[in-house]
Amino acid sequence: MCQRANGRLDFLPLRRLPTVRQEPVSAMPASHASPSRERAAIRSVSLLLFVGLPLMTASSGAGQTPPQLGGASLDEVIGAMTVEEKVSLLVGMGMNLPFDIPGLPRPSPEDRAVPEKVPGAAGRTHAIERLGIPSITLADGPAGIRIDPTREGDARTYHATAFPVATLLSSSWDPALAETVGAAIGRQVREYGADVLLAPGMNLHRNPLGGRNFEYYSEDPLLNGRMAAGFVNGVESEGVGTSLKHFAVNSQEFNRLKSNSIVGQRALRELYLRGFEIAVKEAQPWTVMSAYNLVNGTYAPQDRDLLTTILRDEWGFEGFVMTDWFAGDDPVAMMRAGNDVIMPGGVQQSAAIVAAVGSDELSEAQLEAEEAHRPPGNILMPAPPIPEMETEAALIRGAAARADVGLYSLGRNSGEGGDRGVEGDFDLTVAEVALIRDLSQGFRAEGKPFVVVLNVAGVTEVAGWRDAADAILLAWQPGQEAGNAIADVLSGAVNPSGKLPMSFPAQYTDVPSSRTFPGQVLPEYADQEQPAGFMAMLNPLPSQAVYEEGIFVGYRYYDTFDVEPAYPFGYGLSYTTFEYGDLELSEARFGGEITARVMVTNTGDVPGREVVQLYVSAPRGSLVKPEAELRAFAKTRLLQPGESQTLAFTLDGRSLASFDPDRSAWIAEAGEYEVRAAASSRDTRVRARFAVPETLVVEEAHDVMGPEVEIDLLRPTYD
Ligand code: BGC
Repeated sequence: MCQRANGRLDFLPLRRLPTVRQEPVSAMPASHASPSRERAAIRSVSLLLFVGLPLMTASSGAGQTPPQLGGASLDEVIGAMTVEEKVSLLVGMGMNLPFDIPGLPRPSPEDRAVPEKVPGAAGRTHAIERLGIPSITLADGPAGIRIDPTREGDARTYHATAFPVATLLSSSWDPALAETVGAAIGRQVREYGADVLLAPGMNLHRNPLGGRNFEYYSEDPLLNGRMAAGFVNGVESEGVGTSLKHFAVNSQEFNRLKSNSIVGQRALRELYLRGFEIAVKEAQPWTVMSAYNLVNGTYAPQDRDLLTTILRDEWGFEGFVMTDWFAGDDPVAMMRAGNDVIMPGGVQQSAAIVAAVGSDELSEAQLEAEEAHRPPGNILMPAPPIPEMETEAALIRGAAARADVGLYSLGRNSGEGGDRGVEGDFDLTVAEVALIRDLSQGFRAEGKPFVVVLNVAGVTEVAGWRDAADAILLAWQPGQEAGNAIADVLSGAVNPSGKLPMSFPAQYTDVPSSRTFPGQVLPEYADQEQPAGFMAMLNPLPSQAVYEEGIFVGYRYYDTFDVEPAYPFGYGLSYTTFEYGDLELSEARFGGEITARVMVTNTGDVPGREVVQLYVSAPRGSLVKPEAELRAFAKTRLLQPGESQTLAFTLDGRSLASFDPDRSAWIAEAGEYEVRAAASSRDTRVRARFAVPETLVVEEAHDVMGPEVEIDLLRPTYD
């Protein structure tokens, strides 16, 4: 929205959401509030941001007591703000980096001087004390709250629990568990005085080398969205907020501040937006964080189609959108797009916005270059793995003679601002494989089992060495209870019930995006030298990643193109076995909703839980479809040997539909559909069929965010 109001250019979204309460809320300024009252005050600041801030002249006259947040209505509080105050709410207080980076927004000296409420938190918004508006503190996320463990002049250690990473959490296929973990994290966020946890991370595992996959849930949008919704509900049940991030199509870290994700509308809707859509609709989080990258040519935080048309108009999002840290290049465009808060914020951005108010020209703040000591490496990336030590045969023989079982733990780490490599990262090093084989031989010679524990941040190659292991335990990065959890599973004290939230390809070149990931520098910049280390992350060359595989990500590709993975999506072992009864459907003809029921029986000797995955295989029609797609899932309770439980699943129109970019609508084509109750994408136990008598237009959408270039999309050829 861009219109003139009272002679000033009013370019902020003038949203008046029906669910936003305009009446006074019971809140007090943070400085004299009790924790719960403070939370209420924070929520009202959020409301200020939700409704947008019309940039008009302040209405409260001199000498009058200004209205207080919590005492007056939001309209009165907004009406009393000066333009500068309004802008201050929309631009964060900046980040106190130990060095200045040329071109990066900086905090004002006044903001720098304000002591942090929660040292080590990622960012904060401005307070407006005269109106009783407190500052909001935002802290990372996702695997627990990230703060400084020590504080100046304070002998205490500020501990925060290291919780399991998101990938491990989603391996439970248990949104209720995500809710429990979320609530535990939420309590720490609240106790430490932060207001919003910058989590969950929701980008799709497009490729196993994605540097931040460990922070994300899955290659499948349904699992992604439902786990995130559980997590959000858990954290927010403690009275603090969450932020779905990074919205959207941020599947690679390479040149992340200037990388253009070129993706077709169908893959965009069905895969990259779908998880966010589910989480927004199911959990209505306080905030969403827009991504660094461009999507089809527009920076995510500057894309009105993404942040307003889709997020708010189509999905009904009611919270506020913040940028990722230092994202985008035009603060005014961010405001126009519906990006409510610029983080971490800086004086240049505030100045640009204030300058734009009252002029038709959008003035750019002049960025000064000084600034500076530059660290050589990327401080957000972990150190490379320590090379495997040489292990002598005698040492292995001795260990095998003494121990009951051989355990080898393989470690892999990754971080922000860079993706993983294939050699020595996805693939094991020669030394690692040799050690695995030597250990295996040593223990097997003693008649003892040899187990490999994968303590990894992402998918690794397993097909080339797994014959040497009697068991592989995929521990991911379990947080501080790692040792106890691993011991419980190996000893049988706990029967594992996890299933893979992504496929394990047999080799990296099998990955459908292996040719195009993580993208490349645009040809016109190809001659320029790419900055190294930290600077590459903050000031990269403009790049692009073309999502040529379209909707064929993960199992959607392997199962459609008949490429055998090392382990399929949804795969996982248990110490017991389960039998599935018949799959019963409530109707044979689809009339808007179908219920599927299946009875699961524990047929083994120990208690256990089973994840039942419901895949739907669509008829051949005008839209190319994957072999089958996960459309619902459920997990049994802990079943005793011999015990059964019936699980029920609901399939609605959206569960059958695909996004047709030509019609900008979700379409379920007529024909016969097969429903499969399965233990993995490749282990169907029972199936049933129903008919869709005529093609359904399930939901219409806006024709937005199409790619500006033609994408040479991967397509299966049918016989
Ligand atoms: C990351 C976000 C994080 C933010 C604040 C950015 O670099 O991409 O995920 O929340 O920093 O620390």
